[in-house]
Amino acid sequence: MRMYDLIMKKRNGGKLSQPEIKYMIEGYTDGSIPDYQMSAMLMAIWFKGMDDEEITEMTKIMARTGDIIDLSDIKGLKVDKHSTGGVGDKTTLIITPIVAACGGIVAKMSGRGLGHTGGTVDKLESIPGYRTDIDRQKFIDTVNSCGASVIGQTGNIAPADKKLYALRDVTATVDSIPLIASSIMSKKLADGSDYILLDVTTGSGAFMKTLDDSIKLAQTMVNIGEGAGKKTVALITDMDVPLGHAIGNSLEVIESMEVLKGRGPADLIEVCMQLATNMLYLIGKGSVEECRNMAEKSIKDGSALEAFCKMVEAQGGDASYLRDTDKFERAPYSLEVKAAADGWITHMNAEKCGIASVELGAGRETKESSIDFPAGIIMQKKYGDKVKKGETIATLYTCREDSLKDAEALYQEAITIGNEEPAPEKLVFARIEKDKVERF
Ligand code: URA
Repeated sequence: MRMYDLIMKKRNGGKLSQPEIKYMIEGYTDGSIPDYQMSAMLMAIWFKGMDDEEITEMTKIMARTGDIIDLSDIKGLKVDKHSTGGVGDKTTLIITPIVAACGGIVAKMSGRGLGHTGGTVDKLESIPGYRTDIDRQKFIDTVNSCGASVIGQTGNIAPADKKLYALRDVTATVDSIPLIASSIMSKKLADGSDYILLDVTTGSGAFMKTLDDSIKLAQTMVNIGEGAGKKTVALITDMDVPLGHAIGNSLEVIESMEVLKGRGPADLIEVCMQLATNMLYLIGKGSVEECRNMAEKSIKDGSALEAFCKMVEAQGGDASYLRDTDKFERAPYSLEVKAAADGWITHMNAEKCGIASVELGAGRETKESSIDFPAGIIMQKKYGDKVKKGETIATLYTCREDSLKDAEALYQEAITIGNEEPAPEKLVFARIEKDKVERF
């Protein structure tokens, strides 16, 4: 077999067979197929796509390039949640303890931020002492004693995806349904959970910009999960506007603690409630209504906050920062962004807001870049809010004073102020199960 022939076959719209996909993925992972040939193949896939059979085969082969985690030492049914990425997306920090407080079990491996999107591992590491690199036994012990543990991806989970993702990131081939579906689901097939809730984001800050593409991606991933014997459900959630009011690592931890303390922004609360409800429903905790009530109660009675503090302490973190978030270090430099006109905020480009936060030091340009935990943005005004010219719409925080001006320009570019009040923001667009699409 020659990679040249496979590239040509895909370029011409052909279907790759299982042995051909195996040859290509294993060869790229072991280094016998070079980056330049894989780049050409990724671009051919980007243009010509793959059918469901090709995507499923590629996912299974990618999962088998590394370890398949055995979580059978964890008692009970494990539920995982995975987001396709976004800006201000701190839902894992909120729904993991809600589900744990309601008797669910969450054994979760999360990623770091890359590009304009943030990553849960970076957010958690902004809590002093929190370790995301604990070993397998400690991970299992933490889940058994706290009902939840969130760690970074262990070294050898789907190594094919690690190499492919890095290559996609520099070859403009990230936003492709077969490539995103196989990337995410190869890790889900390897990570040992019994149930999966997928949070497929849609809009300007998501990889999928349209609802139809987001639904197609969700259906593809649900079919892969179900085909592998894992009950899988997806929600399509809004990422046209950043989620909540905070972007940036410790700023997002602080906002998440507000939600766990019964406060926090309405959009973030609603998305988290819907995700947590669906996770509890998936593992059979009751009807949708009962699961929602359970999730709300865990906030009201403080049990979700306690579950988070317990997990953080078990992983070496200082939970006093969570109880009193004033203890978090603040960025030394800040700048207030003012409204450029009177009117309503009619659009926020979430991707550009994310890029502004990377400029401030909250994210990574490349895998090697360092990040500053207190850097980021607090958005005082969001989509749908009425503003007056000169009023503060956001505050930028940074440890790198010289980044403020560029970040301000980027943020201003992200905001559109119009003369008419826009329609209310829709937060959850659809729920996808095997062979079922429910649009809201
Ligand atoms: N997250 C992933 O893990 N992979 C993708 O391709 C996109 C988002």
